[in-house]
Amino acid sequence: MGEIADTIIANPFKIIKGCPQTLQARRIPEIVVEKTQESSSTTASLFAGLKMFVAFCIFFQIMGFLASARSTSINDGHGLRNIVYLTGQHPIAPTHMPELQDVTHVALAFMSSNLFNGNNEDRVQWPLFTSVDHARRLFNPSAKILVAIGGWGDTAAFEHGARTSSTRQQFSRNVAAMVQATGADGVDIDWEYPGGNGEDYKTVPNSQKEWEIEAYPLLLAEIRRALGPSKIISAAVPGKPGDMLAFTPLTVPRIMAQVDFLNVMTYDLLNRRDNITKHHSGVVNSLEAVDAYISAGCSPDRINFGLAFYVKYCKTEHKSCLEHVSKTGSALGCPTLLMEDPETGVDLGRAGAFSWHDSVPDDLRDSFARAQKMGRYDNEGGGYYYWDEKQDLWWTYDIPRAITQHKFPRVLEARNLGGVFAWGIGEDAPDFKNFEAMTKGWRQANNKQSDETRSEL
Ligand SMILES: *[C@@H]1O[C@H](CO)[C@@H](O)[C@H](O)[C@H]1NC(C)=O
Repeated sequence: MGEIADTIIANPFKIIKGCPQTLQARRIPEIVVEKTQESSSTTASLFAGLKMFVAFCIFFQIMGFLASARSTSINDGHGLRNIVYLTGQHPIAPTHMPELQDVTHVALAFMSSNLFNGNNEDRVQWPLFTSVDHARRLFNPSAKILVAIGGWGDTAAFEHGARTSSTRQQFSRNVAAMVQATGADGVDIDWEYPGGNGEDYKTVPNSQKEWEIEAYPLLLAEIRRALGPSKIISAAVPGKPGDMLAFTPLTVPRIMAQVDFLNVMTYDLLNRRDNITKHHSGVVNSLEAVDAYISAGCSPDRINFGLAFYVKYCKTEHKSCLEHVSKTGSALGCPTLLMEDPETGVDLGRAGAFSWHDSVPDDLRDSFARAQKMGRYDNEGGGYYYWDEKQDLWWTYDIPRAITQHKFPRVLEARNLGGVFAWGIGEDAPDFKNFEAMTKGWRQANNKQSDETRSEL
């Protein structure tokens, strides 16, 4: 934890220095001015120089216009979305990667949902780990900046806000006031999850949250009414079918009438509620997630699938896992140890995660090194994994090559999804290899899509 905190201080957001066009255009007049001062006898050549300068300016204006027109069209949904979350845990963006220019949306995670109940409309400060303006300077100026509200465990204020027609209106007016005050392009609603199965699922039964299934689309409708049609509303939604309590053929069309797109969390699909090993963000279980939304009535082009820029692990049994391996040839589907208290849902410390930016915990270092060296890619389920029989640890994560070569063709292209998102860009610091792979996959898919559109015309 200490290291994370240090990094945040040591890596204050560095502002990337505008687009190349702007820089070039700015540098040229300076040269001309210097020449004018040097010599007044070369008026003719100066005039020619000026003409060239004007031509240059027009050229760069056009280039700039084309570049912004292209970016705008991506954001308007005529291309694939390429979204990153920028998180308070790892608020780091690369400074010199050209891939930054391809990010279409950035979701700042998280702003507490507590800010949106009661009359907060005159509030000036809307606490967040960064500002919208600051975030805007890190990416392409045309990238849309969204404030992500909520997050895992932050459900109480949604439950309060969604309760009645007047609380929904108040909540939504506050959301609109926040968007206005921060200058954001919209919001990402991260209620995990309406209808239950959230962090408190063992202490508050889902039966007490059933009303949320109806209230969720109503809350989204109020938020849309308060924000108007031009702001973006997205929702981060569960990736495990068992958690999709509020996402049925009855509700999904009503949800989609209000939001622009869904970020389907196709990761953490192995969590501590499981009892056998699996990929936490595999191709097949990602498809299962997005297919559930599609069959509930969501148009595929309004779905973004999620990439996780972190590593997951859990403890397995020893003997029965060895037997499983000798029987099936793989440790996929091995029994895990009990990972949470069945009564309280409390974490028993047998599963965990760390991002690519975190240092590997000491007791896991050797085992993770073995996973990195000897892990396999499962072509069938679509995920990189390793079972370390020395420490009885199951490892599951994505490798950059698999993101580009498997995830994009087999998930995004296979279902004609509208985009991809990553949790989160700073989690991939300092090398940003996964972000690089994501951008590569996105570019390939985007190019294929525009080729198809062209051939249809
Ligand atoms: C494992 O979990 C599944 C649900 O995911 C459950 O149906 C099953 O009973 C569990 N098995 C054991 C041995 O706890």
